[in-house]
Amino acid sequence: MDKITTTLLFSLFALLLTASLSKDLCHKDDENALLKIKKSLNNPYTIISWDPKDDCCTWVSVECGDATVDHRVISLDISNDDVSAQIPPEVGDLSYLQTLIFRKLPNLTGEIKPTIAKLKYLRFLWLSWTNLTGPVPEFLSQLKDLEYINLSFNDLSGSIPGSLSLLPKLGILELSRNKLTGSIPESFGAFKGVVPPELFLSHNQLSGSIPKSLGNLDFHRIDFSHNKLEGDASMMFGAKKTSWSVDLSRNKLQFDISKVKVATTVNNLDLNHNKITGSIPVQWTELTLQSFNVSYNRLCGRIPQGGDLQIFDAYAYVHNKCLCGAPLQSCNVEIQATDLYLNLPSE
Ligand SMILES: *[C@@H]1O[C@H](CO)[C@@H](O)[C@H](O)[C@H]1NC(C)=O
Ligand SMILES: *[C@@H]1O[C@H](CO)[C@@H](O)[C@H](O)[C@H]1NC(C)=O
Ligand SMILES: *[C@@H]1O[C@H](CO)[C@@H](O)[C@H](O)[C@H]1NC(C)=O
Ligand SMILES: *[C@@H]1O[C@H](CO)[C@@H](O)[C@H](O)[C@H]1NC(C)=O
Repeated sequence: MDKITTTLLFSLFALLLTASLSKDLCHKDDENALLKIKKSLNNPYTIISWDPKDDCCTWVSVECGDATVDHRVISLDISNDDVSAQIPPEVGDLSYLQTLIFRKLPNLTGEIKPTIAKLKYLRFLWLSWTNLTGPVPEFLSQLKDLEYINLSFNDLSGSIPGSLSLLPKLGILELSRNKLTGSIPESFGAFKGVVPPELFLSHNQLSGSIPKSLGNLDFHRIDFSHNKLEGDASMMFGAKKTSWSVDLSRNKLQFDISKVKVATTVNNLDLNHNKITGSIPVQWTELTLQSFNVSYNRLCGRIPQGGDLQIFDAYAYVHNKCLCGAPLQSCNVEIQATDLYLNLPSE
């Protein structure tokens, strides 16, 4: 055999070997489950290419783990498609799944099915921009490996299960843009994990007051905006915390801000559209701020001068009871203007 033939034969052999090896990668149970999922979803465009002739580990939207998990399917990500279906019951048969993503599937309807409770290795659950209804399921708290839950942009209703605080590894809980009601669970002041998760609960219909217990934890980021929360929120702050972003805007929160110390780690502070009273503490001049908004409250008194408090325009401060000083009009001018106005009728 000449050199070329040898090379060709060798390449052919290598190709066959790779093909036969990779054919072996996909576990038969996973392949069967995936094919049933494809059928349940009515053969959507994104996964139409799934073919039993190919190794399922090479299929689009699918990822298999390495030899340590016997090359089982660890990730399923079906996004941007027009599936008209419910969550297929066979999803729970992908027993080694760590990542489940159904995203931007506006015609995926129905509830978040109990089949998901079978996925005991699940770490990453992202069901977003779909049209899922029903509750945030209580059974999620049994999936102890969950690190990331994102159920935003759905039509979920009912209250937030307090048992989610039992998840020891939860790093992010994102439930914004649903129709959730009831109050924030008291148990969210006692998350079991070492670090409390970032909480995104905005654009729901959450009501009642924020449980005092939440003040015990040092949340890195919270977004409770666009709800109907009322009462005190001062416990969410404190000089000793290391929070980075606090958005409590567009609620009905009512408390005195005058003595509230904000951690110097805070970058984003949005309190607009509430019923917050008092004056802005001088301590806030110590903050390094990227965004800041206290407009539409009931604040009064002089805006402390210095730090980053003057890098924002008047729109960050407008519509309060009697705030004055830069970037609003100077406190003296306001008094003069009032005097002038009061003097007008007698002239
Ligand atoms: C969703 O379903 C509705 C009616 O069933 C249909 O009119 C619409 O085109 C579908 N949307 C997508 C993105 O497939
Ligand atoms: C979700 O479903 C509702 C009715 O069930 C429908 O009115 C709405 O258009 C759907 N949303 C999307 C994004 O398809
Ligand atoms: C959750 O999902 C939405 C939409 O898919 C995305 O915009 C948002 O950034 C996600 N949130 C987090 C905290 O990852
Ligand atoms: C503050 O919030 C108000 C009300 O939503 C908005 O009109 C304004 O543009 C915001 N200002 C800044 C500086 O973000």
